[in-house]
Amino acid sequence: DLPTPVMAIESSCDDTACAIVTTGGQILAETTLSQSGHVPFGGVVPEIAARAHLGALPALVRDTLRAADMQPHELGAIAASCGPGLIGGLIVGADMGKGMAIALDRPFIAVNHIEAHALTARLPGVASNGAPFPYLLLLVSGGHCQCIAVEGIGHYRRLGGTIDDAAGEAFDKVAKMLGLGWPGGPAVEQLAREGDPHAVLLPRPLLGRAGCDFSFSGLKTAVAQKLPAEVRTALPRQQAADIAASFQQAVSDIVIDRLGHALDMMEQRPTTLVVAGGVAANGVLRARLQEFATAHDLPFAAPPLRLCTDNAVMVAWAAIETMRARTALGLPIPNDIAMRP
Ligand code: KG4
Ligand code: ZN
Repeated sequence: DLPTPVMAIESSCDDTACAIVTTGGQILAETTLSQSGHVPFGGVVPEIAARAHLGALPALVRDTLRAADMQPHELGAIAASCGPGLIGGLIVGADMGKGMAIALDRPFIAVNHIEAHALTARLPGVASNGAPFPYLLLLVSGGHCQCIAVEGIGHYRRLGGTIDDAAGEAFDKVAKMLGLGWPGGPAVEQLAREGDPHAVLLPRPLLGRAGCDFSFSGLKTAVAQKLPAEVRTALPRQQAADIAASFQQAVSDIVIDRLGHALDMMEQRPTTLVVAGGVAANGVLRARLQEFATAHDLPFAAPPLRLCTDNAVMVAWAAIETMRARTALGLPIPNDIAMRP
């Protein structure tokens, strides 16, 4: 019998999150706090992030317990994202989780943040077919951009990924050039609605090339070249909207092309196309992904946005899947109390 429920902590970037999830996948409580201290800097500042996690996490853990109407001793196990991510925040979350695990005498499960994104689609109710293995995952966020063959618990094959910027990073930089706020993705998408996606000629780096690596820095530079410093402040709205729409179109074209290659690189035909990460919020990209999936006769699973971006539910679920896979092999429940982020 697996220890249940699992409390999980996520603190690898700029979201402080906590959740309590049963081994059956029922979410008893979930809380997420997005840090606002980075806004004046136009990007995540690691030191600010770590300090904000340190300040917010204890109360967030307490609030999550309250929301689930539970006492700490009713928890079966504690999990935390232990990497990859910004080390300061990871240490805060991992140590809080370990402290609780020691005090409560429960197992502590160290979760890989990417694995947590990868397994979210298997949370009951997210994908209508349950996302059986193997499936093809496109992870597109501010920090990550990769195609992964998810073949089983602990069996992930990275088919390709960005050789420079992540997709979200490119959105954020373009937003900055257009004088929009941070995070830039939603602002670019909104402005793009008024623009013509074919108005501005932009490159599509690596399009048609073998493999499924991504590159966005050349696209970002091309946008910068269309926007010399002296024009940026006085850009007519229509022109800005055309640039936003054309940029968004270029990103979508790149993603769809790379995904086609990723599909060919799967050893077995995937059961599902899954998308995760903050950029998955983009309506244009989502529509193109749906179109791609339909054309290849694949079910398409896009978790609800709050589970696409960084959250603790996915961390709890990855811990649960790991425990279940291990016990199925006759192995003991892991206790990663000594693991360093
Ligand atoms: O997954 P996420 O919340 O955080 C991590 O990076 O881990 O992703 C945030 C990224 C940001 O770069 C943000 O600009 C981008 O996702 N994003 C979007 C949209 N909403 C968020 N990009 C394009 N269109 C959107 N609607
Ligand atoms: Zn993430």
